[in-house]
Amino acid sequence: MSKLKIAIQKNGRLSEKSLQLLKECGIKLSNGERRLKTTSSNFPIEILFLRDDDIPQYVEQGVADVGILGENEVWEKDKNVVITKKLGFANCRLSLAIPKDVQYTGLSYFNQKKVATSYPGILDKFFKQNNLEVEIETIGGSVEIAPGIGLADAIFDIVSTGSTLQINGLKEVELVTTSEAVLISNPNLDAEKQEILERLLFRIQSVRNAAENKYILLNAPNESIEKISNILPGMKSPTVLPLIEPGWSSIHSVVKEDEFWDIIDQLKALGAEGILIINVEKMIL
Ligand code: PRP
Repeated sequence: MSKLKIAIQKNGRLSEKSLQLLKECGIKLSNGERRLKTTSSNFPIEILFLRDDDIPQYVEQGVADVGILGENEVWEKDKNVVITKKLGFANCRLSLAIPKDVQYTGLSYFNQKKVATSYPGILDKFFKQNNLEVEIETIGGSVEIAPGIGLADAIFDIVSTGSTLQINGLKEVELVTTSEAVLISNPNLDAEKQEILERLLFRIQSVRNAAENKYILLNAPNESIEKISNILPGMKSPTVLPLIEPGWSSIHSVVKEDEFWDIIDQLKALGAEGILIINVEKMIL
């Protein structure tokens, strides 16, 4: 039986989280010292540890069947690959930044300026769309140092917390685009590999559903059950179990993590007590 070859980043911001995702999908990898290639003992995949900027090319060529990397690298390399799934981690911005003491006058500021970046393709497209004439200086890394050493007037790079900009005396002035980790695939996978990929995507979706949802348990007076059920619709409908104390029930449901804080006050106003919020490990819809 063939194996699906998955390329992930060898070192760097996506590396640990990519491995973590596979682990959460129940995929066991033989570890030991970090090798450049490993297989799973319980799922038909092989992992290739590569530099992230090489991954689009290897997936296009079929050296790897799929890859996990930042969307920004996919856009930059512009290879014939398919973005199959957004993965919801390693979210960042791709922004233009200038020295913090320089006054920013809007996008026209960049006209006739020199901007250092590791993403010349994305930046060139952005400046062309905005009819700006800018010189792009392509460098491999440590981009934030460029204005300080007189290499460029500004930079274009990944911003996550913003601390690298701050440490280097820069300020973010234009958001060009946002990016997150994605799974890309070769557009011509054979049926067997496509089937393995479908199984993997199903597991990834279950992990993602679980990450976005919490299991909620609470006690409430029986007269509030209907109203609380409307607030907490759950996957099908909430579970309601009677408490030994007459007139009270325990209500169990699932709630979106980002909605929880918005509804907590409504639940309390309806008499809910003993509210417990529990992590969900997997969620199959
Ligand atoms: C990126 C980017 C910035 C930094 C921004 O580098 O190039 O230097 O992260 O993050 P912050 O806003 O949280 O400070 P990364 O660590 O991914 O390594 P790289 O230089 O290999 O891209």
